[in-house]
Amino acid sequence: MQKQDGKDPALAVLDTLVVDRQAVSPENPVPKAADEGLHILLVEDSEPSVELIRQTLLDSGLKFSMATVDSREGFEAELSRQAPGIILSDYWLPTFDGGMALEITKQVAPDVPFIFVTGGLGEEVVIEMLKQGATDYVLKSRLSRLVPAVNRALRETEQRRERQEAEEKLRRSHGQLRALSSRLQLVREEERTRIAREVHDELGQALTGLKLDLSWLYGRLAGNSVMHRMVKAMSSQVDATILTVRRIATELRPGVLDSLGLAAAIEWQTTDFQSRTCILCETTIDVKEAVWDRELSTACFRAFQETLTNIIRHAKATRVEVRLTQVDHELILTVRDNGRGISEKEAADARSIGLIGMRERLAQVGGGVQFAGAPNQGTTVTIRVPMPEAVADGPGRA
Ligand SMILES: Nc1ncnc2c1ncn2[C@@H]1O[C@H](COP(=O)(O)OP(=O)(O)OP(=O)(O)O)[C@@H](O)[C@H]1O
Ligand SMILES: [Mg+2]
Repeated sequence: MQKQDGKDPALAVLDTLVVDRQAVSPENPVPKAADEGLHILLVEDSEPSVELIRQTLLDSGLKFSMATVDSREGFEAELSRQAPGIILSDYWLPTFDGGMALEITKQVAPDVPFIFVTGGLGEEVVIEMLKQGATDYVLKSRLSRLVPAVNRALRETEQRRERQEAEEKLRRSHGQLRALSSRLQLVREEERTRIAREVHDELGQALTGLKLDLSWLYGRLAGNSVMHRMVKAMSSQVDATILTVRRIATELRPGVLDSLGLAAAIEWQTTDFQSRTCILCETTIDVKEAVWDRELSTACFRAFQETLTNIIRHAKATRVEVRLTQVDHELILTVRDNGRGISEKEAADARSIGLIGMRERLAQVGGGVQFAGAPNQGTTVTIRVPMPEAVADGPGRA
């Protein structure tokens, strides 16, 4: 295709101009970048075209500086000298073409809007250039479109930048929240372990001492039946308190989780659940190893406890099946009840803090959880966590 403009090889490579004019009309506001002084990089070899484009921009009241280039070297040098706010480019040049300028721009400065300002281009070339990422296309014979096209491109770029910034901020704060939540879980778990140990050891020992003293006292009160009865009642009370202390310590952090591992803790918790609720439980444990990484076991166990609590509170179930299996390098814990069935809405509700907590906790160890339910057909909770490789490949448990 022939270029329609006259060519002037002697055209100055760089042509900088700063103009300050009145603001444009409210219907056609100049974007923020323009208010601060827009730098335009113009790829054009025809001096009359340069003048025409410059005049059109000046007439609109746009405040800008402009550099003009007509070769690849000039274009690259100008791009690295000063980042443009927008690139306006002819398509046909003696030693360079707009397609190449667009390609370089997409590699070096992909966020800079790029508008073709040409004498005429075939439809196919236009479509191809737009596909390659050109922002717009303005015919030199219809330069009245240039300013609206520039303004729109700048506005869109600004909006894109703001959106990217907002997304980045959101990503950062989400990451911080995750880290905070992870830290809180860890601190909470450490705290619970410490309190469980203290309650168990300190209170347990003090109560055992008290019981020994009462037993000694009982022997000294021979013949005094009233006092005997009283000491006996006190001793029974101490026994009951010892049991309560043990229960509290276990609820805070079951020792079996640390000593025998996740599988044993799940078995113990299920038995305890059955005896407290009279809901029939069937447990299948089919895994190789008993003890796993503490963080992983804790996340899985706490999710399991929340699942059981939810069954008591919401399911109206009479039967629960618990299955712990290992598939390749993944640990799968399935808890199925025969209750009313969780709805999709409940499972996805942003206010379901218990379920969100489970998701977050498991995500922290690289796992996940799914909730599936059907009306009166029960709920199935599937917890998955990746296993440390050494454990996954380890010897069989049984
Ligand atoms: N096994 C289940 N069967 C039926 N519905 C369930 C079951 N588990 C959870 N749900 C539903 O999902 C909702 C969300 O559960 P989630 O654990 O997040 O909250 P919660 O148990 O109501 O309160 P908490 O924040 O104290 O855990 C419940 O309110 C309940 O309606
Ligand atoms: Mg709950």
